[in-house]
Amino acid sequence: MELSGKRILLIISGGIAAYKSLDLIRRLREHGASVRPVMTKAAQEFITPLAVGALSAGHVYLDLFSREDEQDVGHIRLARDTDLVVVAPASADLMAKMAHGLADDLASAVLLATDRPVLIAPAMNPKMWDAPPTRRNAETLKRDGIHFVGPMAGEMAESNEAGVGRMAEPLEIVSAVVKLLDGGPKPLAGRTVIVTSGPTHEPIDPVRYIANRSSGRQGHAIAAALAKLGADVALVSGPVTIPDPAGVRTVHVERAEEMLQAVISRLPADIAVMVAAVADWRVASSAGQKIKKQPGEPPPPLQLAENPDILKTVGHHEKRPKLVVGFAAETQDVVNNGRAKLERKGADMIVANDVSPETGVMGGIRNKVKIISANGIDEWPDLGKEEVADRLAALIAARLMET
Ligand code: CTP
Repeated sequence: MELSGKRILLIISGGIAAYKSLDLIRRLREHGASVRPVMTKAAQEFITPLAVGALSAGHVYLDLFSREDEQDVGHIRLARDTDLVVVAPASADLMAKMAHGLADDLASAVLLATDRPVLIAPAMNPKMWDAPPTRRNAETLKRDGIHFVGPMAGEMAESNEAGVGRMAEPLEIVSAVVKLLDGGPKPLAGRTVIVTSGPTHEPIDPVRYIANRSSGRQGHAIAAALAKLGADVALVSGPVTIPDPAGVRTVHVERAEEMLQAVISRLPADIAVMVAAVADWRVASSAGQKIKKQPGEPPPPLQLAENPDILKTVGHHEKRPKLVVGFAAETQDVVNNGRAKLERKGADMIVANDVSPETGVMGGIRNKVKIISANGIDEWPDLGKEEVADRLAALIAARLMET
């Protein structure tokens, strides 16, 4: 069975579509999954915990402040002891809470605390789905990496209104679950990967630092894409505001020197993908105390020192991974600079992108890259960073087979 041994935490929020959640529990179990249900207060107005408990053959979790449940598993464990969190139906209200990080009941607290992938099946009146706040919240949730199934177009259960808002059918939700949990072939199963991502912060003094515009989106997406292909991924991330990707071990560092240590200490590995926008320079001797303005004095000079080149170190290391991939952030002569970088850094592949301000790549959500390797140059179209990540992960898997 496709979902054998998989654990699903099913959050049922309020809405007439909650009646379909009963069937969903049955379908998920038919496919081999175990289902642990959480119900919001509103959900209990539509279906009873008794019915949910009977179908799931287990305890139904209802309260954040239930002493018994907190002693038994606790909401943090509830949030993590699962392979996937499914929210079906996801009401407009619960989506709003998720988008804003509210956690005033068990369902929302679990959603905020989880580090597992989350799939939501929205269900609401079409006017509510189309309303500007719901549009904004859906966008936010997508950006946060929440997966969606539906809503579908069709007749509403409670009125003869039609439009988009109907919850996906239980079997459609099961397919989405299978796709997320199984996710197809695992050509990188058993392979270890180190990915760097994000900027580094190089302190000037305890309150000031040198940084750059990297968001970490491309590196994080690559880590997630490699994990989806079965790789055991360690992501070494500089300071970013995006969440840690699911299915990946993330280590947070600040400075280039810390990033280098974190990477080197994880060798040997099969693959290294160095995506971080590592600061080339750090402040030669960062001050232990905040540097004060001195009236009448000129500003203090900033003496810079060169940072270690992490990609180059890995590319020439005695425990060099079989496949070393680097990025080249260029604003001019992308191909020639990329080629030179391949050589100089000891990489097998360079993903070169044009980061001129007009491209919006740095900090943006799209990317247009050229893949430079001994095999030549491959130019990819303008793609979302997730898609660049998926393609790159597939290419890495294929190249690894050749070595
Ligand atoms: N890189 C690294 N450590 C550094 C600098 C860069 O690991 N200290 C890696 C980046 O993660 C990226 C690649 O090197 O994979 C290219 O980064 P880039 O900044 O373009 O290279 P530079 O060597 O700084 O080249 P240039 O100064 O020509 O831009």
